[in-house]
Amino acid sequence: MDNIRLFFALCCGILCGACTHTTTPPSDDVLVPLQSISPFPVGVAVDVGRLLSHTPYRTVAETHFNSFTAENSMKMSALRPDASSFYWDEADTLAAFCKQLGARLHGHTLVWHNQNPDWVENFQGTPEQWAAMLKKHIQTVVARYKGTATTWDVVNEAFDDNGGLRPTIWRQHLGDDYIAQCFQWAREADPTAQLLYNDYNVEENGAKLQAVLLMLDDFQKRGIPIDGIGFQMHILDTYPPLPSIHAAVQAVQQRGVLIHFSELDVSLNFAKTATALTEGMKQRQRQRVEDIVSLYRTIPAAQQVGITLWGIADTDSWIPNFFSRLDWPLLFDEQYNPKPALYGFLDALRK
Ligand code: G3I
Repeated sequence: MDNIRLFFALCCGILCGACTHTTTPPSDDVLVPLQSISPFPVGVAVDVGRLLSHTPYRTVAETHFNSFTAENSMKMSALRPDASSFYWDEADTLAAFCKQLGARLHGHTLVWHNQNPDWVENFQGTPEQWAAMLKKHIQTVVARYKGTATTWDVVNEAFDDNGGLRPTIWRQHLGDDYIAQCFQWAREADPTAQLLYNDYNVEENGAKLQAVLLMLDDFQKRGIPIDGIGFQMHILDTYPPLPSIHAAVQAVQQRGVLIHFSELDVSLNFAKTATALTEGMKQRQRQRVEDIVSLYRTIPAAQQVGITLWGIADTDSWIPNFFSRLDWPLLFDEQYNPKPALYGFLDALRK
């Protein structure tokens, strides 16, 4: 997959070197809060510490967004210092922030192979004890935020890019049907929350999507309570091609379930060739964001969970650290000023 991404990124870099772009946004660009004109929730992943300590960060969060995901504070490593206790401070702070704003808390994530505490990784027990440990975690967390976290990523990234079930500790100790069990435990804890399976590269319309569709069909046949799919949408300016994303969305849409674009960012420097953000790159990102939001608007309203950005400003993004490269994947710049991509989002909402 990485080779395909690299190919698209390089082609686009070459082509866009020849493009001419305006250096300022069109003069009729009018800045309004995203959430004020959006027919669906517009969300963002936040760092709770930064929300409390950094005024520009908080101001943008409060102004533009009406759904919040904890970037890290609701993962098992954050909530579970040890087997017998829970650490709620950060998650509770975010829940209170959401309540105060009248915003949604999107729960992320109950079950994942990353960011598990050491005591979980080293847990010794029978399959029944593993199941009891995970059930307690899921049900305690879901029950605590019942009514506030109205949507949940129950299981995150259970499939690899070839469509196989990842060999996670959960699969290893609970068996291949663990995903279904997790959804059932979550439903028992909150009969009204919308329960989602969340993954990346689903939008490529490839083997991983097929695995997710098979799971969805199987769960629907067996009455396993799954309400929808989160397309993470960690995408490039040029990859996946829009028709692939559209086909993937339609395949899920046809099954009648909810669709969340749950972690959107648009990376501009996959090939690591850029040393600064150019006007051409900004405009390419603006168009890409407009295309993605326009595509999301083709989904029937009853199936829309919303679009969530994975961070506020470029400096908040996970991408530069994780991939060791410069990048500018989000809607706001380092000073928390809107980038052209924000206007691309607004353009698509105004259509
Ligand atoms: O909290 C520690 C801190 O104590 C320590 O000093 C510091 C040193 O590096 O690390 C801090 O932990 C980091 C944590 O983020 C909180 O900042 C971890 O190293 C770092 O690995 C972790 O990265 C997070 C990543 O998930 C973990 O896989 C990113 O912030 C977060 O954006 C990212 O989010 C994931 C979604 O949950 C699932 N989908 C993919 C997405 C991007 O990877």
